[in-house]
Amino acid sequence: MSQVSILVTGGAGFIGSHTVVALAEAGFRPVIIDDFSNSKPSALEGLRQILGYDVPCYARDCNDKTTLLEIFRQENIRGAIHFAAFKAVGESMAQPLRYYHNNLGSLITLLEVLVETGVPDLIFSSSCTVYGEPDSLPVTEQTPVQPAVSVYGNTKQIGEEILRDTAAASDALRILSLRYFNPVGAHPSAQIGELPLGIPNNLVPFITQTAAGLREQLTVFGNDYPTPDGTCIRDYIHVMDLAEAHVSALQHLQARPAGRHYDVFNVGTGQGVSVLELIRDFESASGQRLNYKIGPRRSGDATAVYADATKAREQLGWTARRTLREGLEDAWRWEMHLRQP
Ligand code: UFG
Repeated sequence: MSQVSILVTGGAGFIGSHTVVALAEAGFRPVIIDDFSNSKPSALEGLRQILGYDVPCYARDCNDKTTLLEIFRQENIRGAIHFAAFKAVGESMAQPLRYYHNNLGSLITLLEVLVETGVPDLIFSSSCTVYGEPDSLPVTEQTPVQPAVSVYGNTKQIGEEILRDTAAASDALRILSLRYFNPVGAHPSAQIGELPLGIPNNLVPFITQTAAGLREQLTVFGNDYPTPDGTCIRDYIHVMDLAEAHVSALQHLQARPAGRHYDVFNVGTGQGVSVLELIRDFESASGQRLNYKIGPRRSGDATAVYADATKAREQLGWTARRTLREGLEDAWRWEMHLRQP
């Protein structure tokens, strides 16, 4: 039986590259399109090391419809996973049009191509940011979506609405949005991982860079939150678990009757972990002492967000299997790999 080709936009990025591995291991044929605006071709070399062959990759902008149509035809694409997007919250506030144009433009272009080519299945990278500061925890898919506090978050909310409306009008389309909680870790081989450009915004890359000596000190953003130790609580999910959720989601779509299908799933572990707990886990996983201080709150941070992932377990047959400790060990191994001379 020939393999089903799946287009992975942003497939050289952090979550995209791990999903390429998960797709290949599940018997799909991933095809990457990535403009390398926030990723590096070294991810392709890492994929080659892990998989033993070159994953087809188009170094192009997925906002370009002619290119997409050409790739769909040439590669016999049967479904798509759309990761390609800008994701820096602060930058999104300074450059709103750039974010709306890139994140929503590429989504609309991809949808037009799916409609024109009759390819039915799409999975969209959404975010737990849509829940804002939730009234009750853990958050289920029924937890109300809050008005976005960043342009980045708004591109995810508007993206979800565009998908819902487009799927409702199509006899072919089957679409899922996956609302990611906080991805951490790397492939255990340390051949692929997160490659933050400049100073990392996210907690775990900042921690590993500090432990590796690239950064002086981590600042914990606030210890006066109404949580047991005063620091914010998040749901940290191993990126390989997150990657595997896409495979389960794709298989779920393929088993459905054609058309008019749109749904959303939380993809998290269900475990809330505070910043200080995560620092302690990192120290124990890496054997390193972390230099950190308590600083003021960062504006826009929710106090606590963690998932109820029951729906994904019941309907997709997916559940997170790896521990936070494994994620932190893998993140540290990856950081060490990057620092090798
Ligand atoms: N944190 C620190 N110090 C740092 C970095 C982070 O204390 O140097 C804390 C934050 O205050 C927060 C926790 O670590 O409590 C996690 O912060 P991240 O920036 O790693 O993750 P967020 O929960 O803020 O980010 C998530 C997604 C983003 C998304 C964002 C929207 O990972 O992609 O929600 O709010 F944009």
